[in-house]
Parts: sequence; structure tokens; C-alpha cells
Amino acid sequence: MVSRSFTLVAGATVLNGVVASLYGESPLNHTCILEKPLLSCPPTNISTVDSCCSEAFGGLLLATQFWDTYTGLEAQGQLLPKKTWTLHGLWPDFCNGSYTQYCDLGRQYDPDPSPNTTTGTPSGTPVIPYTGPDIGTFVEDAGRADLKGWMNKYWIAQNQPNPDFWGHEFSKHATCFSTFDVPCYGPHYRKHEDVIDFFETTIMYYLRLPTYKWLTSSHIVPSNSTTYSVSRIQNALKKKYGHLPYVGCSGARWNETEQGRGSMDNGRTILSEVWYYFHVLGRPQDGRWRGIDATGSGTSCAKADGAVKYLKRTLGSEFEN
Ligand SMILES: *[C@@H]1O[C@H](CO)[C@@H](O)[C@H](O)[C@H]1NC(C)=O
Ligand SMILES: *[C@@H]1O[C@H](CO)[C@@H](O)[C@H](O)[C@H]1NC(C)=O
Ligand SMILES: *[C@@H]1O[C@H](CO)[C@@H](O)[C@H](O)[C@H]1NC(C)=O
Ligand SMILES: *[C@@H]1O[C@H](CO)[C@@H](O)[C@H](O)[C@H]1NC(C)=O
Ligand SMILES: *[C@@H]1O[C@H](CO)[C@@H](O)[C@H](O)[C@H]1NC(C)=O
Ligand SMILES: *[C@@H]1O[C@H](CO)[C@@H](O)[C@H](O)[C@H]1NC(C)=O
Repeated sequence: MVSRSFTLVAGATVLNGVVASLYGESPLNHTCILEKPLLSCPPTNISTVDSCCSEAFGGLLLATQFWDTYTGLEAQGQLLPKKTWTLHGLWPDFCNGSYTQYCDLGRQYDPDPSPNTTTGTPSGTPVIPYTGPDIGTFVEDAGRADLKGWMNKYWIAQNQPNPDFWGHEFSKHATCFSTFDVPCYGPHYRKHEDVIDFFETTIMYYLRLPTYKWLTSSHIVPSNSTTYSVSRIQNALKKKYGHLPYVGCSGARWNETEQGRGSMDNGRTILSEVWYYFHVLGRPQDGRWRGIDATGSGTSCAKADGAVKYLKRTLGSEFEN
């Protein structure tokens, strides 16, 4: 994955085993319907808003998706949905594009933290691998087998069980939103309510962003022989989303391939990710989004004409959905 610029500003304080509020929210009721919702960027003065009711920390949201060609766990039945990009996550960047991660170590459910410290450097706080029941059991225990069933179809990990990946997404990213902070759920908070709420919110945005369909409507379909230009992929998605998403590639660099030899274009050549950027009015949970163009470079793919492959999945890695 492409690395993004990174800044650490917050960390949870654990008091007597109780996790204190990250961003100073009170543990009282947060009746957001009575509050004037604010746009999440540019940042507002955090002491003048209820940061449970307007996203006051990570206001630049990214709804991210994958195009993987295999899962590595096919033998265990972990398969990819046909003709559908899969869900990666919902990330809270700062308005300036930098971000924090693993903001509340009291909600650490990632068995394989990456990075393994809060800053990604040895001076950061270690993020200890989680060894308890996987986060999927929280969904089940909440009586939401339907939700878990859906997640096992569309929120798919590569080389690790799906629930481990969901735990990673929650602990690395969801804990950095102010609006998913535990005190926001008020005095009647039910254990792991924040987890379910984050999963549902992430799915809501994912369902609005049918990447496979959007590409198909511009005649961009998986093929192991055709090649595409990244600008064509970007334009196809921009036409539907209304704003330019980030298009990510993996695999060989163009100038390391035979065709690209001698070129100064060292972008990668296998289409693998799309990130849609937006701000939200009020809580992300309420779905009032305002799309924006991707900030930063816009792509990690090679820009040369016909440098990008949109691969067909491996035979046996897909299921009929
Ligand atoms: C918060 O809600 C609870 C029950 O829903 C109620 O008992 C309590 O009075 C409320 N607190 C305030 C400050 O409104
Ligand atoms: C933020 O709001 C508080 C309370 O109104 C005020 O005291 C403070 O000066 C404000 N900070 C900035 C940077 O405007
Ligand atoms: C981006 O914004 C965050 C939060 O306001 C701030 O802590 C950080 O220093 C900013 N980073 C840059 C590179 O400006
Ligand atoms: C993080 O990973 C690095 C590289 O594998 C390792 O050297 C380091 O000890 C790990 N740090 C922690 C806190 O686990
Ligand atoms: C590939 O492109 C990069 C960046 O333009 C350049 O630094 C590098 O030397 C190139 N590599 C090859 C093998 O041509
Ligand atoms: C397409 O190519 C990729 C990469 O070589 C390979 O993993 C995949 O199995 C191929 N798919 C089909 C259907 O041939």
C-alpha cells in the first residue's frame, strides 16, 4: 500500500482500565439531532462544537476499496464476490491529508498491528497484538449474524482471515474519529456498539460507490490481455463520482517492465485500489457527504499510455454473488 504522510497527535489515556475520552467528549447524552451539524473540513474550533455530533478530528474521509485477484485462503472458503470490488475501509484523515492511527489502545482488536507502534517508528507507543476473540464475534454477540454474513462476502482480506482484517481497520482507523468515540454513545452505551456502528457506516458509503459497475459502464473490464491508461480509469470514475478518486496500483513498476524500459515513469502497473475522498456534514454515521477530489498525487499507477492492467481474478477465487 502507498504510504501517506503521517502525524501523531492523540493517544488514549487509560484510567483504571476505563478508557477516557479521546477528544474530551462528555459521557452524557449526545442528542445530535438538536445540534447544528458542521462540515468536517476545514476544522472548526474543537472547544466550540460537540465532537460527537460533528467530526472534529479526522474530517477528511476516505472510502477505500480493493481489487484483489485472490485471497490466499480459498481452501477455507474465503472468496471474492464476482463483478464487485471489495471493501477496504473508512479512514479519517486530517483536513490537510496527514493522519493518525491506533488512537485508542483500549480498543485494540488487531491481531497483527501494522505498523507495530502508533507512529510507525521505534519511538512510538507499541501496539500489542490482540489475542482475544476476533472482532467478528462482537458482531455475532450483538445478534447481527446478517451483518457478519454480508461482511464475509464483501469485506475480504488477503492472506489473513476476514475478521482479523476488520479488527485491523477498526483499531487502526475507527478509533481516530471523534464521532465513534465511546462517550458519544452516552450513558446507555452497549459494549462494542461503536464497532457495529463503524462497520455499518463504512458499508453505507461502500454501497454508494459501485466501482466495478462504474468502470464497466466505460467499458473498462478485467482482462489478462487488454491494458488501460490510468487517466481513462480516473476519468471513468470521476464521471460517476463527480470527483477524482485516488487510483492505486501494485505490482511491477512500469520502467522495470520490458515495455517501459528506459522510461522515467516508475509508477506501478496492476490496478488494485480506489480511494474516494469526501467531507461530511455532522456525523459520518448520518451519511451527509460532500465529495472532493483526491488530495496528493492522485495515483500510484504508471501514467504511460496502456501501462495498467486490470486483472481477471484467479480461477476458483470467486463466488457467484
Ligand atoms: C440522558 O438519557 C437518559 C436516559 O435516556 C436520561 O435518564 C437522562 O436524564 C438523560 N440526561 C440528560 C442530561 O438529559
Ligand atoms: C476556541 O474557542 C474557545 C471557546 O470559545 C476560545 O476560548 C478559544 O480562544 C478558541 N480558539 C481559537 C484558536 O479560536
Ligand atoms: C495537519 O493537521 C493536523 C491536525 O490539525 C496537525 O496536527 C498537523 O500538524 C498538520 N500537518 C501538517 C503537515 O500541516
Ligand atoms: C516492530 O517491528 C520491527 C520490525 O519487524 C521490530 O524490529 C520491532 O521490535 C517491533 N516493535 C514492537 C514494539 O513490536
Ligand atoms: C525508473 O524511474 C525512476 C524515476 O523516474 C528513475 O529514478 C529510475 O532510474 C528508473 N529506473 C529504471 C530501471 O529505468
Ligand atoms: C490473470 O492474471 C493473473 C496474474 O498473472 C493471474 O493471477 C490470474 O489467475 C489470471 N486470471 C485468469 C482467469 O487467467
